[in-house]
Amino acid sequence: MSKESWGSRVGLVLAMAGNAVGLGNFLRFPAQAINNGGGAFIIPYLVCFLLMGLPLLFVEWSMGRFGGQYGDHSTPFILNNMAPKKQKLWKYVGVFGIFTNLAVAAYYCYLESWTLSYVWHSITGSFHGMSQGQVADFFNQYVALGSSEPIVFWVFCLLLNTWILSRGLSGGVEIASKIGMPLLIMFGIFLAIRGVTLDAGEAGAVNDGTVGLNFLWTPRYESIWDFKVWLAAAGQIFFTLSVGMGSIQCYASYLRSRDDVALNAMSAGWMNEFVEVCLGGAILIPIAVGYLGVDEVKQLVAGGSGFGIGFQTLPFLFQNWGPILAALAGVAWFGLLFFAGITSSLAMGTPVMGFLRDEFSWGREKSAWAFGLTVLLLGAPTVLFYNYGVFGEYDYWAGTVSLVVFAMLEIILFAWIFGMDKGWDEITRGADIRVPVFFKFVIKYITPAILVAVFLGSLVSQGGIIDTMLNKQIYADLLNARTLNDAAQITALETKLLYINGSRLLLVFIFGAIAYLVYRAQGLRDRKAPLAHG
Ligand code: PHE
Repeated sequence: MSKESWGSRVGLVLAMAGNAVGLGNFLRFPAQAINNGGGAFIIPYLVCFLLMGLPLLFVEWSMGRFGGQYGDHSTPFILNNMAPKKQKLWKYVGVFGIFTNLAVAAYYCYLESWTLSYVWHSITGSFHGMSQGQVADFFNQYVALGSSEPIVFWVFCLLLNTWILSRGLSGGVEIASKIGMPLLIMFGIFLAIRGVTLDAGEAGAVNDGTVGLNFLWTPRYESIWDFKVWLAAAGQIFFTLSVGMGSIQCYASYLRSRDDVALNAMSAGWMNEFVEVCLGGAILIPIAVGYLGVDEVKQLVAGGSGFGIGFQTLPFLFQNWGPILAALAGVAWFGLLFFAGITSSLAMGTPVMGFLRDEFSWGREKSAWAFGLTVLLLGAPTVLFYNYGVFGEYDYWAGTVSLVVFAMLEIILFAWIFGMDKGWDEITRGADIRVPVFFKFVIKYITPAILVAVFLGSLVSQGGIIDTMLNKQIYADLLNARTLNDAAQITALETKLLYINGSRLLLVFIFGAIAYLVYRAQGLRDRKAPLAHG
């Protein structure tokens, strides 16, 4: 097995920032902010970043570096080695750190492939002269697989990911990040300036760009009492920082034991926040609100995670700027999304590869292909049945619920079982900054408490995990449709149920399959070194 490591510190931080900076920063964040009342969202969001996001970054970076010393690069055996020998179940908690990456990659890479296709259509001027309805329809046709184009772009995108991954960290991921991140920031700044300086009356705009900004940034303190807004804010922090995934631990496991983690974690984390709130918050909202007004924008994202809005509205709004600027803006917007996406999907591939390489001695290429093919199989239902809610199921269970569950368990392990004193040593060893001792307290008490609250809250709240699991809403709609004798609606809902339950079964199956592999891996380890631990 060839030894893998990072080529340079800049490369590492850019790769970690690339991991965090993703489609979530530009599409999910604005939509979450709009759905949760703009200024009402921003306080819980920032509080969650400081008290939950940053502490988790410290914890995950140092867990990863800790695991790397034992040659472990994925969470099952990293967790295993942090727990006392007789607590054998932690490695199964670590299954989340592989499962989530696979399941999120399954829908994420599909989204990523839309961005490539839209870059292409922006260059060729496909949106030129279309009405708003036509641009939205273009997207609806696309995801309804009106042509084979989405499949072609999707498969191409998977091949590209597989190829980069098969070149390794310093020869693949690091190079992709060094190219992608600067371009992304450049494109982002260009669009953010355009967004913020938009003038009402200019090129058909009805509002100044600042109207959207004010909507987002005028704090509304009463939101402190709205539990739902807190849940949404916590969910966004998870998704955007890629914490609770297992991908940060994997990247960090390729550090040396005295390499800094504290400053690196801070740099990557703050870079993500800069991109999210300064760039992500200054493009979609100001431009969409500038042309459509707050109310219409609210309607467009209502209830959804917002992955569609950037595709359905922005290409149309750009047309107001004349053909050349529209093409440029389209390339900048979808190009930026593409770079954001690919540097994140690469991060989802590495834990899976690390596991296969560590435990089954697979080569780099073979494990990269294994990842690519699994994503192809697991992603196929989201591509083929996008309109039946399969995509949404993956996003909810893997991209939302799993993150919270895993983060809650791992921080309990870190702070209470591994122990906070040892944990603090891990965080501060080799650190290039002084981490405020305040965080020792936060990691031990505050973050776990927040995580437990978030978990219990999402479990029992209305429309929360239990309600979703029982398909409460769909059954209510079904009852309604039956009373109204609406045959078409009844069939539609019944079909939807079928697809939703089917996707859940598939996800459970995948989780079980990974757990089985972990079990096998333990068996192999026992046979190799019956006395050594782990
Ligand atoms: N953080 C990424 C985003 O904002 C998503 C992601 C999650 C990436 C998990 C890698 C691992 O889009």
